Amino acid sequence: RIGSGDSRGTGRTAGRLHVTVHQDGPLTTEAGAPVADNQNSQTAGPGGPVLVQDQSLLEKLAHFNRERIPERVVHARGAGAYGTFTVTRDVSRWTRARFLSEVGKETEVFARFSTVAGNLGSADAVRDPRGFALKFYTEDGNYDLVGNNTPVFFVKDAIKFPDFIHTQKRDPYTGSQEADNVWDFWGLSPESTHQVTWLFGDRGIPASYRHMNGYGSHTYQWSNEAGEAFWVKYHFKTDQGVRNLTTSEAAETSGLDPDSHQRDLREAIERGAFPSWTVQVQIMPVADAPGYRFNPFDLTKVWPHEDYPPIEIGRLELNRNPRNVFAEVEQSVFSPAHFVPGIGPSPDKMLQGRLFAYGDAHRYRVGINADHLPVNQPHATRARTHARDGFLYDGRHGGEKNYEPNSFGGPAETGRALWEPVAVTGVTGDTEAPSHAEDDDFGQAGTLYRLMSEDEKGRLVDNLAQFIAKVSREDIARRAIDNFREADEDYGKRLEAAVQALRG
Ligand code: HEM
Repeated sequence: RIGSGDSRGTGRTAGRLHVTVHQDGPLTTEAGAPVADNQNSQTAGPGGPVLVQDQSLLEKLAHFNRERIPERVVHARGAGAYGTFTVTRDVSRWTRARFLSEVGKETEVFARFSTVAGNLGSADAVRDPRGFALKFYTEDGNYDLVGNNTPVFFVKDAIKFPDFIHTQKRDPYTGSQEADNVWDFWGLSPESTHQVTWLFGDRGIPASYRHMNGYGSHTYQWSNEAGEAFWVKYHFKTDQGVRNLTTSEAAETSGLDPDSHQRDLREAIERGAFPSWTVQVQIMPVADAPGYRFNPFDLTKVWPHEDYPPIEIGRLELNRNPRNVFAEVEQSVFSPAHFVPGIGPSPDKMLQGRLFAYGDAHRYRVGINADHLPVNQPHATRARTHARDGFLYDGRHGGEKNYEPNSFGGPAETGRALWEPVAVTGVTGDTEAPSHAEDDDFGQAGTLYRLMSEDEKGRLVDNLAQFIAKVSREDIARRAIDNFREADEDYGKRLEAAVQALRG
């Protein structure tokens, strides 16, 4: 297994990871035959044309042409590391998840942090949410928590996600990100006001991946041994302290040091300064949900801490770098649908869409056997399915039977679902969510604005104004500003004045 103790070719000296190549034979072709000359192609005579019989040349050129796989359609740019999750509180009254079953229990983890909108080679220090994806290698299979560094999101229904991302990525005509598209979509999607306020505030550009919090963001279900269910939200609070870059610091870092966050994470781990996060959960009894002041499955809202206080349950530490970035980071796959017994989804419409999107993306991007790769396969148990074959199948099942039911002693179903059933109401096809008193789009955005210091409000307004001032159509800019005015009168007034000042 990659990174699990096979130290061939690596060694630690004075805290740094040095990679060396062991000379255990000559250079060979892919088939293992010794290569005579790797500097000169075979030619018909010293000045003649190159020969087809030079298989080592043809193989080299052909393999090179196929080095790339599709980059992630979002979160293409990222860095990863292995580590350990340790339970610090007994949570068995809320979940039967075995990796959370007792205080002191440790589980191996792989984390990947990322930006969202940029391509694979883009700069790290940009204003963008950060992905905070975790894979817990548990004894009941891998549990993936695919979160962000923000507790909320821009939209609350998966059907709006591809359109939203189109506005963040490159315009089909100009080939660049366009302020018109971004603000057109946000202005017409008022539910984005909370997340946009967060993004253009101080936390919108973390100083590094180590200096940011992580959030599961969605509401998930936990269920205990007795079959009692709870709604839960996850928080990962950085033990390094939150540190951010200002817009101008970030512009400089992006230009001078595009790989800043990736290198910071690797180097911190190499020198033994293992980054860690304190893990907390908010727990809501299922019976509270229908009468709560807003829809608790709305991804554009946080659960105020006074309603559901965060409870500390564990510690996450990252302490081992991947040995090969392509194999372990680029080919890593995380899916919100990867649950383990005692943890499940909620009716959050965004989460429900994500339960489809990730596995589908993995099959396209890495292939049907993506889950068999060393970084993605279970490490603390074994996958026992009847699925077989497909591109790059490694034959791991040997001659085992590949169907069920069978009378040869193959793996059989357990009869117990991973999570508990959820009561639903209403009529199929009715798109109206049950209404709660505070289901509006602006309340929490206004609260966030009013919580900011005068200085932070000033920077927020300035950051927003710089971007809105680039919009070419007056109606688009006005609609965007009106959303912030809805959140807070002062917020809208200051923003309008700042945009006008920039436009002259
Ligand atoms: C990556 C879809 C919302 C966090 C991805 C990928 C897709 C996707 C297709 C690329 C997966 C791959 O190629 O391996 C969606 C859809 C969403 C959604 C359809 C809404 C319905 C969210 C939200 C969060 C999030 C709300 C956080 C709370 C991430 C992260 C990654 C990712 C962290 C990178 C995972 C990695 O490091 O490999 N998303 N996403 N996404 N998404 Fe989402």
